[in-house]
Amino acid sequence: MSLAVIRSRSLAGLDAPEVSVEVHLANGLPSFTLVGLADTEVKEARERVRAALATSGLEFPHNKRITVNLAPADLPKESGRFDLPIALGILAASGQIEAGRLDGFEFAGELGLAGDLRPVRGALALALALQRRGTERALVLPAASAEEAALVEGIAIHAASHLLDVVRAVLPAQDATPLPLARPGAAIPAEPGADWRDVKGQSAAKRALEIAAAGGHSLLMVGPPGTGKSMLAQRFAGLLPPMTQDEALESAALLSLNGDFRPARWRCRPLRAPHHSASSVALVGGGSPPRPGEISLAHHGVLFLDELPEFPRAALEALREPLESGRIVISRAARQAEFPARFQLLAAMNPCPCGHLGSPLRACRCTPDAIARYQGRISGPLLDRIDLQVEVPAVAPEALAASTQGEAGAQVAERVALARARQLRRQGLRNAELAGEPLEAHCALDAAASQFLQKAAARLAWSARSFHRVLRVARSVADLAGADRIALAHLAEAIQYRRVLGVG
Ligand SMILES: Nc1ncnc2c1ncn2[C@@H]1O[C@H](COP(=O)(O)OP(=O)(O)OP(=O)(O)O)[C@@H](O)[C@H]1O
Ligand SMILES: [Mg+2]
Repeated sequence: MSLAVIRSRSLAGLDAPEVSVEVHLANGLPSFTLVGLADTEVKEARERVRAALATSGLEFPHNKRITVNLAPADLPKESGRFDLPIALGILAASGQIEAGRLDGFEFAGELGLAGDLRPVRGALALALALQRRGTERALVLPAASAEEAALVEGIAIHAASHLLDVVRAVLPAQDATPLPLARPGAAIPAEPGADWRDVKGQSAAKRALEIAAAGGHSLLMVGPPGTGKSMLAQRFAGLLPPMTQDEALESAALLSLNGDFRPARWRCRPLRAPHHSASSVALVGGGSPPRPGEISLAHHGVLFLDELPEFPRAALEALREPLESGRIVISRAARQAEFPARFQLLAAMNPCPCGHLGSPLRACRCTPDAIARYQGRISGPLLDRIDLQVEVPAVAPEALAASTQGEAGAQVAERVALARARQLRRQGLRNAELAGEPLEAHCALDAAASQFLQKAAARLAWSARSFHRVLRVARSVADLAGADRIALAHLAEAIQYRRVLGVG
C-alpha cells in the first residue's frame, strides 16, 4: 500500500466540511510535499509529524517522495488539526498500520514533537457537523478537546492523549487497545448569580428589562453614573428562559471556535460585555482564518454594550445588519465565512458627558452643543433598532438604605418563561422576531388602539421600523399580562419606551 486516505474536517464558519487527507509514498528523490490550499500552520505539520513519529519509535519514510493532498483543494484549511490524520496516513501508506482499520473514524489533533496530542479549536463544531450529517463515523480527538465534543449526543467521540494511543487502537483486533469513549464533563453547578434583588429601587427599569427578556427585545438604559445600569445588565441573563439542547450546542460550538467554551457554563445563556475600546472586527468577527466576533459569541444570549457612546462609530454601525438578520457573513479576499449571531442587545449610557442631565439631585454642567454631540455618537439607524429605551434615574438615599426589598430574580424569570411559552405556542418565534404577515396577524389592534398608535407615530415622527417595533413590544407587554389581544394600556406602555433620547 502506498496510498492512504484518512478522513478529517475543516472549519468554515460554524460548519465543518469533510476533508480527505490523501498520503502517497513513491520512490524517487526524498521529499515531503503538502498540497491543497493549506495555510502556514498546516504546512508546519511536516516538521511536527516527522519529529512525532521519530520520538514515538515509529518509522518516518525518509527515503520516499511523500505527497500529502488535502482534498477538496479549493476549501481553505488552517490550524494544526491535520497533524494526526497526516501522521496516520503516513503510517498506513508505509504499511506500519492497517489502513482498513481506520475506516469508520475521523481524526483531528495537533501533534507535539514528542507525539503528544494537543487540543484543537472548534472540537464541538466538528462533532456537531458529524451529527448533523448523520454519518456513522466515530471521531477521534485529543483528550483535552474530546470532553466538550462529547456534549453532542448520538456520535461516538474517542479520546486519545498520544499518537501511540491511536496506533495501539488500530492494531490487528487481537492486539488492539481500544480508545476510551469520551464523556461530557460532569456538570458543575453554575455559581449562584448575583440576584435581581440587589438592585434597589429602579422599578421602571426592572419592568422594561422584564419586557425585553420576555420578547427578546433590545434595550437601552440611560441614566447618571452609579445608578445600577451595569448591575441590572449583569443580572439580566438570569431572567431568560434556559436554552434548549440545540441552542446550547450552537452557542457552545461558537464559543469553542474561539477556545472560550467552559463546561461549567453549559446551557447558561452567554453574556458578552466587550469593552468600549473594541474594534469592529472584535465585535462582529473577522480575521484570517475568520473567527466569530462578540456578536456571535453572544448567540442565543446577551450582548451588553456598556457606555455605548464610547464605542467607535464604525463598530456600532457594523451591528446594524446582524441585529436584523441574526447572522453575519464575513468576506475576505480568499474566503467567506458565515456565523450565526442571534443576540439580544443590551446597552447603557449616560445622558450627557457629565452624566447628570435631567437629574433632580445634581445640576448638569454640559452645554446643549456638547449634549447633542454626545448623544449624536449613536446614529439614528442604530437607535431605531433598539426596541426599548428606559431611564435609570438616581436612587433616593432612603431606598438605598432600606433592607432588601423587591422581587427575587426567580419570580421574574417565571413570568418571563410563561410569556415566552405563549409566544412560541402562538407563532413559533419570539415577539422580537415577528415580521410581515404574522406581525399583522398577531399584533392586531382594535379601532381605538390603532388610532392612538397612529397619532403617536405622527407626533413623534416614527419610521416604519419604529412603528413595527412598538407593536412587537406591546405584544410582549400583553403576553406578560396573559392577554390574547393587545389592549390600549399595553400599547401605551410600549410607546413610552421609545422616548428617552427623543430620537427614533
Ligand atoms: N439601584 C441600586 N441598588 C443598589 N446598589 C446600587 C444601585 N445603583 C448603584 N449601586 C451601587 O453602585 C455601584 C455602581 O453601580 P453600577 O456600576 O451599576 O452603576 P452604573 O449605573 O453602571 O454607572 P456608570 O454610568 O458610571 O457606569 C454598584 O456596584 C452598587 O454598589
Ligand atoms: Mg456602568
